[in-house]
Amino acid sequence: MNEIKTISEDDLLAGIKEIIAEYSGQKWALIPLVQKIQNEFGHIPPQFIPLIAGSLGLFPSEVQGVISFYSQLYTTPRGKNVVRVCRGTACHVRGGKTILKLVKQHLQIEEDQTTADMEYTLETVACIGVCALAPNIVIGNQVYGNINPKKLGQLFKRNGG
Ligand code: FES
Repeated sequence: MNEIKTISEDDLLAGIKEIIAEYSGQKWALIPLVQKIQNEFGHIPPQFIPLIAGSLGLFPSEVQGVISFYSQLYTTPRGKNVVRVCRGTACHVRGGKTILKLVKQHLQIEEDQTTADMEYTLETVACIGVCALAPNIVIGNQVYGNINPKKLGQLFKRNGG
């Protein structure tokens, strides 16, 4: 996960213009362009969507549509650690709902929200792909299987949550 940068609006504009310049007029480049902006700044600031669209010869609604379509693209800042709780069937029948409730309590946020200190963003996912270890959560790039309330408490303690 990229570091969250505190950056002035002017520096943000300069940085985004620099990235846009690399792809100017290349409609096909919308996805790599917005991915690069997200990699650099942690999200795609929505106030720059018209600028991005204009540089590629697209309508802002087209850019917004693509960003909304891909769940990996974000227009709001995200926490340093993204916590993903699995809501798939295998995890659900093994207590996934309780795990989600406990994660919300630990972090004091709801799904798709970020803690005020920008440490954590909470998401749910359809299946992490390791159903045999259900219930599962992911913190950053690390999968934690066979999660139970005790393990969860230890995990957040270790991760500073
Ligand atoms: S259902 Fe949770 S990992 Fe597959």
